[in-house]
Amino acid sequence: MEDPRVFFAPGRVNLVGAHLDYNGGPVLPIAVDRGVYAAARLRTDGQIRLRSLDRSPGLDIAVGELEPSRVAAHDWASYPLGVWWQFKQKTGHGSGMDLMFGSDLPIASGLSSSAALEVSTALALDALHGSSLPAVELAMLGFRAETEYVGLQCGIMDQFASALGREGYALLLNCADATYEHVPFDARAAEVLVMDSGVPRRLGDTSFNDRVAECSEAYRVLRAFRERPCLAAYDAADLAAAGEALHGACRMRAEHVVREVGRVASAVDGLRRGDLAILGRSLNESHDSTRDLFEVSSPELDVLTGAARELDEVYGARLTGAGFGGCAIALIHPGSSAVVEAHVEQKFEDRFGRRPHFDLLREGHGPMEFVPNGEPA
Ligand code: GLA
Repeated sequence: MEDPRVFFAPGRVNLVGAHLDYNGGPVLPIAVDRGVYAAARLRTDGQIRLRSLDRSPGLDIAVGELEPSRVAAHDWASYPLGVWWQFKQKTGHGSGMDLMFGSDLPIASGLSSSAALEVSTALALDALHGSSLPAVELAMLGFRAETEYVGLQCGIMDQFASALGREGYALLLNCADATYEHVPFDARAAEVLVMDSGVPRRLGDTSFNDRVAECSEAYRVLRAFRERPCLAAYDAADLAAAGEALHGACRMRAEHVVREVGRVASAVDGLRRGDLAILGRSLNESHDSTRDLFEVSSPELDVLTGAARELDEVYGARLTGAGFGGCAIALIHPGSSAVVEAHVEQKFEDRFGRRPHFDLLREGHGPMEFVPNGEPA
């Protein structure tokens, strides 16, 4: 059998644009310098063997036994299996393979370990079969695997951020039509401090899908007043015009979505002007809105972000990913992580009697293959 080839796909941090992707809005993620590594080779005996250094159990399954309706039954292995199935549908290639994963991303913490798992699988399949699918297609294989098999009604952001990440840039992705643009992000001007609340969550076990349902109900109500293509396309005047017809949780979710769109625009403006204070303000406002209007924060995430914001070294801070636990991020002045960590740790320990975990990330490159001479392919 041939030697395995090694592939990498990054995790992501979304700077701003919380819960906008499945509402057709803009998001602004960066790929980070951590992710999932996949060692992969094709097999000729029709077996798929999946292993992970971080998760168990592994899975051995014959290609002929794989049914789409059973993909979701395999815990973490559902993600690569779902991608394998989607790839077969798309290209007709359905041979067996060995796939061994290892990750340096915290799992289930809001940094898109699932998307990195999916995109690394898609990249491996594409390279081993020589199918040369564009990066957008690799992202879509992961997105469909997650929504059709794993059952999370997420948007396209995480897989696109992983597949299209580019060093030195944030990705401005318009989720209404999957068009995108890379906006320069100077890694020397800011570092991303990840502050892990230590409360893990699998999104499938949270109210994530409830939020998706509340947003689509808000959209249904608003359409009766005015036809627009998605919830993120409405504005404050539309919401006012709907009056009492839009009330309770649905109104709160819609208010968040409509205002968050403006925050993405202002964050992009800040990035283009090299004014990170503007970007930081958008992060802070985004956090407050996900806490008060979208109701996906937690006391731990509020203490982490609140403590970070007290410091001059911090441009801004917000929860990352979907919320419900997991991590918050602080955008900080380069070289200031020790000061920020000490302050946040003290505040967090005073309140919860334990310490949070910190990780300093940098924006990183997109997916790639490692080739024997050490240069990216
Ligand atoms: C999760 C989902 C994404 C997105 C974010 C919230 O990470 O996977 O698609 O909806 O939450 O912005």
